[in-house]
Amino acid sequence: MLIIFCADPLSPNQVEDGFQAEYRAAIENGFETALIDFDLLSSTEGIERALRRIQPYGDCQKAIYRGWMLKPDVYGKMYNALKVRGVVLVNQPDHYRLGHYLPEYYPLIRELTPESIWLEPDDTRELNSLMQRLEIFSGGPVIVKDYVKSCKHDWYEACYIPDSSSEEDVARVVDGFLERQGEDLNGNLVFRKYLEFEKIGIHPVSKLPLSREFRLFIYQGELAGCFPYWNEVDYDKSQLNLEMFKPVISRIPSSFFTLDVALTIDHNWMIVEMGDGQVSGFPNHESVIEFYSWLRSISK
Ligand SMILES: Nc1ncnc2c1ncn2[C@@H]1O[C@H](COP(=O)(O)OP(=O)(O)O)[C@@H](O)[C@H]1O
Ligand SMILES: [Mg+2]
Repeated sequence: MLIIFCADPLSPNQVEDGFQAEYRAAIENGFETALIDFDLLSSTEGIERALRRIQPYGDCQKAIYRGWMLKPDVYGKMYNALKVRGVVLVNQPDHYRLGHYLPEYYPLIRELTPESIWLEPDDTRELNSLMQRLEIFSGGPVIVKDYVKSCKHDWYEACYIPDSSSEEDVARVVDGFLERQGEDLNGNLVFRKYLEFEKIGIHPVSKLPLSREFRLFIYQGELAGCFPYWNEVDYDKSQLNLEMFKPVISRIPSSFFTLDVALTIDHNWMIVEMGDGQVSGFPNHESVIEFYSWLRSISK
């Protein structure tokens, strides 16, 4: 197995700062590694340069990308360019898209995730039309995000809408979110019914209320790790019931994905979001070590 990381743009022979611990863990567990230039991936001419350090493999070399999030079309181009070199990423492009975009994965996890609506990429974000779409939430609180990310650390300004029937609340929070996302908006707006998750504390910097949330890494249908999502507070996973996620996991075709799950105050485990396993961060150092030694144990 080859693990592909992003190089540090200022020192291209070194791994990006945020991935150093992972890079070391991959090597220590016997995996081959390679570096690519993330910034060059976004243009067709750039892709060849971005991948220049990856020598062609004669036989099909299986690989995992571990780096920054990519737009699905860029991931597709990288996937194809790697394939020409004999390197095959664990997730084919449509599975990357499935794990990355909420509208793609929502139908697969629907019964275990907050009710959600979204705008198609070209839909208007004009307030009157948003208010009509939001009627299905009957004035209850909702959160806003795009197909991939929220601005959770600006919770009250750009994520949490206390009253979905209030034009003032909706306009204020949606504008706050759109301002922050700017050109980086993924797809379009997503609105999700707000659920009361059990709280374990408040984020020390952003004051975001923290839920009892865990990140599950699923590799080829197996649980590759279950880690507390928040590093800022200590909490244990003794109450976590993984059984209930098995039917959902078995219907997701992607080879490597994450599910972030959290406990509601009425004791239901719900999926907060899904992610492609290649671009989901490990919450802390222990989770990195645990994941790579698990991957080694099944790679023999
Ligand atoms: N529907 C919801 N109800 C209550 N809290 C939510 C809901 N969706 C998200 N959250 C909270 O907001 C945080 C960020 O939302 P998330 O969808 O995970 O976005 P991001 O991709 O930015 O992490 C979650 O960790 C959770 O604490
Ligand atoms: Mg999240």
